[in-house]
Amino acid sequence: MKKTFIEICIFILVLVLIISVISIVNDKESTNENAAKDVLDDAENNSNLPNEDNKILVAYFSRPGGNYNVGNVEIGNTAMMAAYIVEYLDSSSFEILPVNAYSQDYSTALEEASKEKEQTARPAIKNEPTNLESYDTIFIGYPIWHGDLPMIMYTFLENYNFDGKKIIPFNTHEGSGSAGTFETIKNKLVNSTVNTNGLSLKGSIARTEEGKEETIKWLKSLGY
Ligand SMILES: Cc1cc2nc3c(=O)[nH]c(=O)nc-3n(C[C@H](O)[C@H](O)[C@H](O)COP(=O)(O)O)c2cc1C
Repeated sequence: MKKTFIEICIFILVLVLIISVISIVNDKESTNENAAKDVLDDAENNSNLPNEDNKILVAYFSRPGGNYNVGNVEIGNTAMMAAYIVEYLDSSSFEILPVNAYSQDYSTALEEASKEKEQTARPAIKNEPTNLESYDTIFIGYPIWHGDLPMIMYTFLENYNFDGKKIIPFNTHEGSGSAGTFETIKNKLVNSTVNTNGLSLKGSIARTEEGKEETIKWLKSLGY
């Protein structure tokens, strides 16, 4: 009887401990997400005008909603990376938004993206990057979709003039790494200097402190 009571107490103690650890991890992730949201909102308020001494733009596409390994998120994984870069470099940001938003449901989004890839679609972009010509350096961020750039990234690369600019790609994924997309971008933007030492992070890592540290370490390695 006494043994059973002690066993029950130990069981409850372990359960409380597990719940506390999970809630600490969740709190930390939502703090990161809120910080990223503030950084990106703030950069948007600067109306995409470059700083006098910092002509850097971070242009990115990222899908909020249900995603592999991270659950349902308001700020996508690539957007988290974009926020770290914007914050560290004090740069402007431009979010590439589709006219037709992708489904927040992961499986449906997989189908939508698959169809677009099959059709070599060029999905329309809802918003215009203003003053693109004023920037010397453009960081370009995106998730890997079906082993490639999302088709909307082709729309972005083909619709605007990146001649003479320094282009630095970064991406998130869940196993494919960069999937050769840094080379793809280099091959498409023949009149730009494309740095193929981009950064690829797993989406689930991009949301954590480790992801932020990796991103800053990479920026430092590029000389920033
Ligand atoms: C439509 C779709 C296709 C995907 N295809 C791949 C893939 O081929 N390889 C991979 O590693 N991850 C793939 N993923 C996972 C995403 O690349 C990963 O979750 C990424 O971090 C999502 O970034 P985001 O939140 O900025 O959209 C795919 C996700 C979606 C929604």
